[in-house]
Formats: sequence, C-alpha cells, structure tokens
Amino acid sequence: MAKKIFVKDLSKYIGKEVTLQGWVRNYRKASSKLRFVIFRDGTGELQAVAWKPELGDKNFEKVKALTLESSVIITGIPKKHPNFENQYELQMTGIKIIHISEDYPIGKKEHGVDFLLSNRHLWLRSSKQNALMKIRHTVYFAICEFLNKNGFFRFDSPILTPNACEGTTTLFEVPYFDQGKAYLSQSGQLYLEAGIMSLGRVYDFGPVFRAEKSKTRKHLTEFWMMDAEAAYVEHKENMNIQEKLIRFVIKSVLKHNLTDLQTLERDIEALRKADAVFKIITYKQMIEILQQKGIDIHYGDDMGAPEEEALVEGSDVPIFVEKWPKHIKPFYMKVDPNDPEISLGSDLIAPEGFGEIIGGSQRENDYKILKKRMEEDEIPINDYQWYLDLRRYGSVPHSGFGVGLERLIGWISGVRYIRETIPFPRMLYRIYP
Ligand code: 4AD
Ligand code: MG
Repeated sequence: MAKKIFVKDLSKYIGKEVTLQGWVRNYRKASSKLRFVIFRDGTGELQAVAWKPELGDKNFEKVKALTLESSVIITGIPKKHPNFENQYELQMTGIKIIHISEDYPIGKKEHGVDFLLSNRHLWLRSSKQNALMKIRHTVYFAICEFLNKNGFFRFDSPILTPNACEGTTTLFEVPYFDQGKAYLSQSGQLYLEAGIMSLGRVYDFGPVFRAEKSKTRKHLTEFWMMDAEAAYVEHKENMNIQEKLIRFVIKSVLKHNLTDLQTLERDIEALRKADAVFKIITYKQMIEILQQKGIDIHYGDDMGAPEEEALVEGSDVPIFVEKWPKHIKPFYMKVDPNDPEISLGSDLIAPEGFGEIIGGSQRENDYKILKKRMEEDEIPINDYQWYLDLRRYGSVPHSGFGVGLERLIGWISGVRYIRETIPFPRMLYRIYP
C-alpha cells in the first residue's frame, strides 16, 4: 500500500508511490489519452497527470467522470515538473472516487460579491480564501505565542455582560431571565483589569460584538479581539509592547505563509518594510499633518477612514497616534498628569490605508478621578461598582490594548475587504450562512 501523504510534503517523496486524499479543483483534457487534474487537499495544490496507457482504461474512465469539487483519493508517483523549477506533479497510477459533485456553483467565471457571500460555505474552498484562512491561523497563534513568551496569562472574559465597555450605542441586547437584559461583550478589557490584580499580565482572545450600523469594508458586527492588560505598565511601555507584538506577527507570517501571500498577490516587500521602528505622533500633530495635506479636520474631531488613509500615505510603518482629547475617548483612559484635557490613549494605524488595527491606553487608576469622569459621562455607577473596587484595593498604574484580529489580517494579507478575513462574516445586512 502506498503511503498516505499531504500535498505540502510531496517533494519529499520523489519517485515513490504515494496516496493523497482531497478534492478536484479543476481538470483539463489534453488529448484522448491525456488529462490533467488540479487536485487540492487543504495543505496545497498539485497537478495530477492521468496518462491512459499508465493508468489503465478503467481508471481513466473514472478520471473522465470527475467534476469540479468531486472528492477523490489518488495514488501516483511525484515527479519534478518538466517546465517549472521547484514544482512537482503527480504521475497518476490509481484513483478512487469518493463523491461526484454536481453543478458546483462557483466556477471559473467572475461572480458578484453577493453571490460569493451567500455561498461563503463553498467560497472558502477557493485558493485565495484558503490562503487567507491559513494566514489567519498563523496570526492567531503568533499573537498567543508572543504573549505567552512575555509573561501574559490567558484569562477568558465573559461574552454575556451586564453593561457596556465601549459605549452604549453599539450594544447587542439579549434577554436574560428575570435579571432583565444582558449585552454581548464589546471587549473584555474591564474584566482583564480585574485579572491583572491577580495575575499581573493577562489576555483574552475571542469574539466581540458591535451593533455598528456601518457598511464600510472595515466593519463587522462580530469580530475577534485580543485584549491584553498589564499591571505596572504605563502609556509608553504599552505602545512598545504593541509594536513588538505586531512585528513578531509580521515575521511569523513571512516565515510560514509566503506561498499564501503570493496567492493573494500581496506586495511582500511592503510587508517586510513594516517590520521596522513604528512612528509615534500626538493627536495634535496628526491634525496638523492632515491639515497640511489639505484635509478639512479640526482639533477635537475624531478620525475616519479618509483621515486614516491620508495619515499613513508615504509611511512604510504603522503609526501610533497618542494623547487624544479626552472627550473623544472612553471614560477608562487615564488623564495625562501634565494636561487635564488629554487622555493617555493610542490608536495604531496600519500603513497602506488599512486603518486602525489597535486601540489602547493607560487606564485611570485613581478612584476619585475615575468616578468623577464616569459621572460626567453619565455612566450608571451602580453597575460598575466592581470596576471601581479595583481602584479601592491596591490600585496600580496599568495599561492595555485591543487588537482587531480581522483588521490585522486584512492589512497583513493585503485584502481590502474585512469580510474575507473571517470564516463566516457577520455584517449589517448579512447573517447567512
Ligand atoms: O478601539 P477599540 O474599540 O478598543 C477597545 O475595545 C478597547 N477596550 C480595547 C482594549 O484596550 N483592550 O477596538 C479595538 C480594535 C480596533 O482598533 C479595531 O482594530 C477593531 O478592534 N475593531 C473592529 N474590527 C472589525 N469590526 C469592527 N466593527 C471593529 N471595531 C473595532
Ligand atoms: Mg478604537
């Protein structure tokens, strides 16, 4: 019996008969005795050569019956591709059909986005989507690896919560027995702030929810966030940790996913260049830079997509925008001891126009200042007693940040539409499939 292998390992078995299990991506008739089958198994793709005199009449008939996305087990001998360096093909010696697929709806012709999204369960099989999912895997585990190596403990925050973390306008409500309403978490941050008082450094990583009525290519209603939080870390060091994390992720993807980046036609040089010292500018400097670029923005305005794009124009590296006017940022951000109108928060803006990938800040650790700010922002103090408690029993300076996983994947893979970076995107007008 031939050894069962995966496509990615093909080159190790040159000249030895092997078996592979997968699906038919495509097929081509070259002559009455010769057919090519493009075969995929999740780990990669290969060209299988079906030569009738070698394969035998019965097996050749099976090859002729193949359709797009039929599932098959093939046996054959890996050989160097006659025309392409570092490519291999399989000289078929046997075939077993597992299932013949009929009228596969995604073909060679161009499909509209709506059609592809309605067929997301099948679209995921295409080469680009497959490459994106592999990059997602690397990014996810690279983030965990970096944090694990840097003393962060995984600390899972709840999804069902009694109140808001990031403002009340984007909450999803869920009926919660006789307790009234619960809300789907927008970020685990507040809970992580409790976690660090036990563990020092913690992170969570999971789905978060925002009932954002925005239809942009950068917004999902359900996306994945990694929130990290650290005791005794202040604003500057917080940004430093973020920079190291992102550069570690870039290196990991370049190491493990070069082929996938090529499949996606990513400008790989641009990605390499981003692995250098990040820029830091203040909010005030950002306003000046944007005004010089002719953008109509004034001190006190928040940033939108056009501003984010203009800001990074000409920059190879991500840019931190720090020290925001406190009224545009959430209540939990620490006020700058040197300027009571400024919050010690930072947004990390990706180059190439991919927008904000991280939001972070030092947290207000003074009980009185925090309580006063919450009152000003009309936050129901009673619901947040536990959060205020953290400032009553051994409060310490601390900071944290939240990485939007899909935004980060979008930038790293050079894919403009966030809907492709998550297996099953949830958006304002779409929850199927
Ligand atoms: O900037 P945000 O809102 O920050 C927080 O939620 C903090 N509590 C995080 C923390 O400090 N632990 O969200 C963090 C990141 C953004 O920078 C962005 O990358 C992503 O989450 N994000 C979204 N991604 C996709 N769709 C949306 N609707 C998003 N909203 C935010
Ligand atoms: Mg933000």
